[in-house]
Amino acid sequence: MMSKEASPEGPEIKVVIYGVGEIGCRVARLLLKKRGIRIVGAIDRSPQKVGRDIAEVLGVENPLGVTVSRDAAKVLSETKPDIVVHTTTSFLRDAYPQVLTAVEHGANVVSTTEELSYPYIADPELAESLDRAAKLHGVTVLGTGINPGFLMDTLAITLTAVCQEIDKIKVKRVMNAATRRVPFQKKIGAGLTVDEFTEKIRTGVITGHVGLEQSIAMIAAALGWNLDKVEVELVEPVVATKHVESEVIKVEPGRVAGLRQRAHGVMDGKKVITLDFQAYIGAEEEYDSVTIEGVPEVHERISPCVHGDLGTVAVVVNMIPKVIEAPPGLKTMKDLPVPSATPRDMRTYLSC
Ligand SMILES: NC(=O)c1ccc[n+]([C@@H]2O[C@H](COP(=O)([O-])OP(=O)(O)OC[C@H]3O[C@@H](n4cnc5c(N)ncnc54)[C@H](OP(=O)(O)O)[C@@H]3O)[C@@H](O)[C@H]2O)c1
Repeated sequence: MMSKEASPEGPEIKVVIYGVGEIGCRVARLLLKKRGIRIVGAIDRSPQKVGRDIAEVLGVENPLGVTVSRDAAKVLSETKPDIVVHTTTSFLRDAYPQVLTAVEHGANVVSTTEELSYPYIADPELAESLDRAAKLHGVTVLGTGINPGFLMDTLAITLTAVCQEIDKIKVKRVMNAATRRVPFQKKIGAGLTVDEFTEKIRTGVITGHVGLEQSIAMIAAALGWNLDKVEVELVEPVVATKHVESEVIKVEPGRVAGLRQRAHGVMDGKKVITLDFQAYIGAEEEYDSVTIEGVPEVHERISPCVHGDLGTVAVVVNMIPKVIEAPPGLKTMKDLPVPSATPRDMRTYLSC
């Protein structure tokens, strides 16, 4: 089919990558395939990356002339980016000073920090402070990704648009961890004994999935539901009933193949929102589903489930023009226009 993409004029969008880890690198590689957007700076603290041209870190042949630096303020003041892609941490408290530095340098921010996807849960005061700073500097801050950010919240919210009445929403994500990166397989405890898993949960080495509370709160806020509470169940091990394996981890029966975590939004004593996240080696069917009990009923299913890293990178990159165009302040996915893919030239949607 012929491409009918518009060919916009105007200056390129300038991006700084803050956190040149797995996701930051994947975002950078995708941005290199786009037009109308340029990586002008890179920030990280890892001694293996600082001082090197980002192209080298990405495994790209030609140098980009962008040296990875640990000095965020210097990079931001020298490069004056339109937007910072922030991918360093899951937690709002850690992300806060980094995002604030970007905001104070006049940059919009799109971040994969899970707790920033709906930051009013983890720390309303920090959220308020970021909102004030963003408005003061005329920029927008968004926390997003695949989950939280899309599959277990924005998608469910969007599907409610066809409902006249809603009784319950159930969202489920089942992933076969064997198809994911090894650090992810280790992060979910694959290969451990149940006792080792329990100990790692107790000591916080395994945290489970970060973001279920945020997704529930975002859905409730979008629907105007005043929840009594959000209940997050303890992370449970998924114990293998037969031998399962990935390329690097072998799991014998009785050992942990991964984890399952559920969370509920409770209103008037009833569980009105339930999220069920499962990631384990050997999951026979991988899917993302949203079930809405209401009028009409909705049964949506994506099979196989969306690949987490590919989806995260896409959501982050695709939200860039929408974040740049949004009114200033701290936003969540429910506050921004319907998410969509971006054309090759990232300036297409910009009005100036
Ligand atoms: N919302 C979603 O759907 C979604 C999806 C994927 C990932 N995430 C989250 O996004 C974050 C990034 O993921 P990832 O897989 O790319 O992690 P990663 O591979 O560990 O990369 C993070 C990078 O940021 C660097 N960093 C950490 N703190 C820093 C600081 N204060 N200043 C400068 N650099 C710093 C790290 O350096 P060191 O190695 O020295 O620590 C590392 O190079 C994680 O928290 C992950 O949970 C969210």
